[in-house]
Amino acid sequence: MKEEILKLKKEKNAIILAHYYTRSEVQEIADFVGDSLALSQKAAETDADIILFAGVHFMAETAKILNPTKKVLIPDMEAKCSLADSCPDEDFEAFVKKHPGHTILSYINCSAKVKALSDIIVTSGNALRIVKSLPQDEKIVFAPDRNLGGYINRETGRQMVLWDGACHVHNDISEQDVEKLHELHPDALIIAHPECPENVLKHADFVGSTAAMLKYVSNSSQKEFVVITENGILYELRKKNPEKTFYALSESGEMCICANCHYMKFNTLENILSALQNEQPELLMDETLMDAARKPIEKMLSFK
Ligand code: 13P
Ligand code: SF4
Repeated sequence: MKEEILKLKKEKNAIILAHYYTRSEVQEIADFVGDSLALSQKAAETDADIILFAGVHFMAETAKILNPTKKVLIPDMEAKCSLADSCPDEDFEAFVKKHPGHTILSYINCSAKVKALSDIIVTSGNALRIVKSLPQDEKIVFAPDRNLGGYINRETGRQMVLWDGACHVHNDISEQDVEKLHELHPDALIIAHPECPENVLKHADFVGSTAAMLKYVSNSSQKEFVVITENGILYELRKKNPEKTFYALSESGEMCICANCHYMKFNTLENILSALQNEQPELLMDETLMDAARKPIEKMLSFK
């Protein structure tokens, strides 16, 4: 299957973009594996004819918005995101209306319509930097992740108004899980994704996006790490750092939490091959919606 995918990819001038949370065999055949920020940058600049997005729906939408003449394939249209789904379009529109005079900042994990209602999009890789660059007295609404928004508020001393949404994977990680894992491995540094709740993040030695965690580990002289995020990242962590040891919620056996985003795991070699063979399912989007959603994403990409 891998050989067939690589052959078809070449024949059809397709690029496979994959998120760090996908299955290891999917990451293996991808042309590029990254966090949400890097994936959107890659999607914007590719000259391939087909973008096959092994990630979740909002990520493929972002790719299509940034490079609308390309054919964007999603191996499984049901690969959604609980965080994006925690912010329904109509409810968010009403929320925005209730907050006149506020800059609307949305995390990239949201629908195209929510993006279109926003002034600036951020990812976990650039959110802190972008918020810090805005005037201290600027009134801000932050959606949809209350955990990431709360983290930014604590780090910057702001009081952004938060939409009450969360990711089911990160939000379900408890303080007790982290404490237990750390008790088992007291010498390990704790690295965590900012989508985790405050009582989890307070135990972390480092908080950052998936790409930032990878960079932190590579630059660190420490040898052991407790990894508090979705388990797919372990593939790249171990590949890049074979001499280091990683302890994950999913592997401990002591915890009843697997930190598994089943939506990301919807991407398999079987449906990637089928998508390339049939050039289906293709993501089609309304032009007007794409134009409106592109502005806040481009604003984000313009922040250096
Ligand atoms: P990253 O910004 O680290 O890619 O996070 C995306 C995501 O979906 C985390 O759950
Ligand atoms: Fe969405 Fe959470 Fe899955 Fe990331 S891990 S794609 S935020 S459901």
